Amino acid sequence: MRTAAFAEFQAIAAFRWAAERFTDAPEGLRQAWREQVADEELHYRIIIERMAELGIEVDARPVSPRIWQSVRACTRGREFCILIAGAEERGRRAGLQLIAALGGRDPATAAVFQRIVDDEVAHVELARTYYGWTPPA
Ligand SMILES: [Fe+2]
Ligand SMILES: [Fe+2]
Repeated sequence: MRTAAFAEFQAIAAFRWAAERFTDAPEGLRQAWREQVADEELHYRIIIERMAELGIEVDARPVSPRIWQSVRACTRGREFCILIAGAEERGRRAGLQLIAALGGRDPATAAVFQRIVDDEVAHVELARTYYGWTPPA
């Protein structure tokens, strides 16, 4: 959950930054990135809240800033869009696996990740809409 929370935290920063940075991307896509920040903020908040309820400390272990580092290396909107869509798709699949692993034993945590997984579908879809990208099977 700590890794997921940090991925959402990085997504907030990444979409906010990319919307201003990648002036080569279509304006509709940049607006979608700006609007998506609110989703990522919600995702971060509901994970952090659930961690608090479960008594998990957010800063007990270090997490990797890998997503942010690779995002910052992008030079074009297309490159960023596809890179982040790949990361979001991996996160979405990890969320589904977590829900399956919980096996109904923790419905509150499952609900948090179900909400996130549902939102990520539309986020990943942006890369298809604007650049014809689809995630690997
Ligand atoms: Fe998210
Ligand atoms: Fe997302």
